[in-house]
Amino acid sequence: MAKTSLLIILFVLVAASYPAYADPGRGKEVFLANKCDTCHYPDTVSLGPTLEKISSTYKGKKARLIRFLSGKEKPIVFPEKFESVMEAYLGNTKLLTPEQRKDLADFIMSHGEKGKRVRLK
Ligand code: HEC
Repeated sequence: MAKTSLLIILFVLVAASYPAYADPGRGKEVFLANKCDTCHYPDTVSLGPTLEKISSTYKGKKARLIRFLSGKEKPIVFPEKFESVMEAYLGNTKLLTPEQRKDLADFIMSHGEKGKRVRLK
């Protein structure tokens, strides 16, 4: 019994001391807080491409998406519309912490994973 309790305590301590992993739920909060939802809807084209389109273009390239959000990589979805509209919003994403950018990328990429999509509403 005492051994079990000790194991539980150990588990809780170890779990609590680990840094938080990327979390698409938190990424959704970052997405909304930065008003990205004004131009990006899950599956309806608005001023910007859909989250489905972005996630399919970046399939297997999440690291590249994170670098794009850091302002360190060129656009690949609609490069011709980048400078006129999207570039200004990288001002916001560059100011996020690396964890927030990972969460944001996970939220966006969840739109390309069947059954794992994090709903905006
Ligand atoms: C005023 C409208 C607008 C807002 C607000 C906006 N975007 Fe965009 N976004 C666009 C347009 C237009 C494109 C297409 C150009 C492009 O592909 O870069 C785009 C493209 C993108 C892409 C694809 C980049 C690529 O590789 O081409 C990502 C990722 C993205 N937006 C994320 C975001 C995030 C995250 C936010 C919030 C911080 C945001 N956008 C806010 C209009 C917007």
